[in-house]
Amino acid sequence: MEDPGEVAGPRSHRRQWLPGIVQAVAPDGITDLGPGYLDPDLLPVDLLGDAYAEALSRYGSAALSYGENQGVAPLREALAERATATGGQPCGPENVLVTAGTSHALHLLATMLAEPGDVVLCEPTGYDFGKQIFTDRGLTLSPVAVDGSGPDPQALADAARAHRAGGRRVAFVYLIPTFHNPTGLLVGEARRREILAVARDHDLLIVEDDAYGELWLDPVEMPPALAGLAGYRGVVRLCTFAKTLGPGLRLGSMLAGPELIARIAGSGVLSSGGGLNHLASLAVTALMEGGGYDARLRWLRKRLVARRDALVAGLGPGRDLQVPHGGFFLWLRGAPGTTEEDMVAAAGRAGVQVAGGSRFGLPDRPSVRLSYSFNSPEDLALAGRRLARAWSAPAPLDPVTAH
Ligand SMILES: Cc1ncc(COP(=O)(O)O)c(C=O)c1O
Repeated sequence: MEDPGEVAGPRSHRRQWLPGIVQAVAPDGITDLGPGYLDPDLLPVDLLGDAYAEALSRYGSAALSYGENQGVAPLREALAERATATGGQPCGPENVLVTAGTSHALHLLATMLAEPGDVVLCEPTGYDFGKQIFTDRGLTLSPVAVDGSGPDPQALADAARAHRAGGRRVAFVYLIPTFHNPTGLLVGEARRREILAVARDHDLLIVEDDAYGELWLDPVEMPPALAGLAGYRGVVRLCTFAKTLGPGLRLGSMLAGPELIARIAGSGVLSSGGGLNHLASLAVTALMEGGGYDARLRWLRKRLVARRDALVAGLGPGRDLQVPHGGFFLWLRGAPGTTEEDMVAAAGRAGVQVAGGSRFGLPDRPSVRLSYSFNSPEDLALAGRRLARAWSAPAPLDPVTAH
């Protein structure tokens, strides 16, 4: 068993993990494989405590002022350097806007780049709350087919043509090409280039949700981000510290062409409130500059590998799933003849909560999403074994017809 003190620092224990403080708390006795966020034992309380102290001492009163609208320059420089180093074309601080996380960035894009009634092209399954941000704004989601390599470029072209012919404006294409939520898929470079070519031909803006890009768990060759491949033209890449440090920071970034970044930096919300989460952004800057962020990522990846592998081992062989090379999720398709309701109900009877696939859109088969980010390796192994038993056992008889 991992000792939380050793794992995340002595101040990280869970004592305030309570309703009214955090968004959700699983019922007692249930192993919850629903949450797409980090186990409390993996949240770096001490590391950030020190980073906030460092930011306040280094910047003094400037840390408590309104921040530069676009986000503090040292953080934008550090993020631009990382983006340049991970492939594609060079990225500069003028390409970066600091956000209050990806949810906030999606909201900004939906309000600034789209009008109610516009269409958003997206994968048939995808991040459910992201899609809700679009529908809250009155945008219409239009799924584009996906094959084993990612979104189908031909289907994307056909959809763009069909909507234009029908007189509907496509505001943008929303994609999660890297360790997709919920399927875990990593789209390779060749398919990325094909998608970009279609987007260029049809004048489509792509919103690339890259929440999990830093969380590769195996030594795979990472394709450059779509935005990097496109030279920050026609693609807006959204990154977040929610999955690598902690969602409570509410901190992330938007990478795009300088004109689009300047336009968003001039929005009312940023002109009024200044840079978003200014103090958090200075604390994370301090962490990045001292090498602490990279050390944290190396540490975290090892813990996530152990968690993913424990769940996969617990489930055992013979399941219809592809072990993802990164991110937080296993996407598991049901055996022929089962329904999603049966899978979720059988899991619940075994004391394990799972997310039904239809929550994320229109899966091609009954499926569930199992998150391995939120529980210890021991609990994940046990949950995997329980699920394997639950899904092999015959369904209980209907109490009305059973005699
Ligand atoms: C694909 C994807 N985008 C965005 C988010 C939310 O990001 P943030 O916490 O930065 O708002 C999540 C969290 O589950 C996610 O999976």
